[in-house]
Amino acid sequence: MSKERVLSGMQASGKLHLGNLVGALKNWVALQDRYDCFYFIADWHALTTGYADPSSIKDSTADLLVNFIAAGLDPDRSTIFIQSMVPQHAELHLLLSMITPLGWLERVPTYKEKQEQLKEKDLATYGFLGYPVLQTADIIIYGAKYVPVGIDQMPHLEISREIARRFNHLYAAEVFPEPEGLLTEFPKVVGLDGRKMSKSYDNAVYLSDAPEIVEQKIRTMVTDPARKRRTDKGDPELSPVYQLHKIFSTKEELEFVAHGCRTAEIGCIECKKILIKNVFDYLGPIWKKRNELVSSPDMLMDIARKGSEKARAVAEETMDRVRKSMGLVSNKGGRDAV
Ligand code: TRP
Repeated sequence: MSKERVLSGMQASGKLHLGNLVGALKNWVALQDRYDCFYFIADWHALTTGYADPSSIKDSTADLLVNFIAAGLDPDRSTIFIQSMVPQHAELHLLLSMITPLGWLERVPTYKEKQEQLKEKDLATYGFLGYPVLQTADIIIYGAKYVPVGIDQMPHLEISREIARRFNHLYAAEVFPEPEGLLTEFPKVVGLDGRKMSKSYDNAVYLSDAPEIVEQKIRTMVTDPARKRRTDKGDPELSPVYQLHKIFSTKEELEFVAHGCRTAEIGCIECKKILIKNVFDYLGPIWKKRNELVSSPDMLMDIARKGSEKARAVAEETMDRVRKSMGLVSNKGGRDAV
């Protein structure tokens, strides 16, 4: 029996951090055993908010690609590709934009929220409003059944289902299965200041950080603010350091630091040292692989090129059916046939 298809993507708008790794990428790696996985870098999506200064998109794309492989995505088992290298996504986005009611897009919570958050940017653009339409094209062009995403992406998934349904209904076709979100059970990773880890809060540990930088970042992390002196007793639950211990440390270590904090038997430095060691153990194999890969950029580009070629073949099959369903000229083979 053929495996069910999973698809997910990451927007190329910043370097990959520990939160992305623990919250998403590790899960993608695990899914490779059971599913036919398609994973990609959404570089066009990065333009929806970054169009005025696209200078970092290339570097972000390269950083994501190296980390995908270093963290364990396997190009022999998964199709790993770059969105802009599969132009069929753009064609489908255009066609879907014809059938997507404005109201659906204006109601997506991230639409207004992001405009509020990014006041310095003019996001009253056609492309930004159409973000979920492009995301829908990304997903349904491969007939993906499951889309592993965080809870914040669920409204986008709902739109994808609605657009797929509307297409099938309008053109009396069964072209697109409705994709389902696959919620990850992984915890949100807190950042160095206790808020959610995010590049926009400047509180992230990046996979590209050298070990010394990671050590320094953790050493200077916020702890329980009430614990000012070494002799003060603390509440581990109020310390972001402890939140990270919950992810990276053993049960025994967790109990040790929690007890040590409550009784002031250990200081914050000792607590952080244990965390640093465990984060190093966690990242060690990834750092090693990164170092190998960074010295062979051709190999990485080759992975992206081969993956994109595979993706294009699948996408083109779908597009052929889409064009037929919509009564357009069949253009099988796309530009290759010209
Ligand atoms: N919107 C997603 C995010 O910000 C990225 C993305 C683009 C995506 N296209 C996708 C995720 C398709 C899943 C499927 O994380």
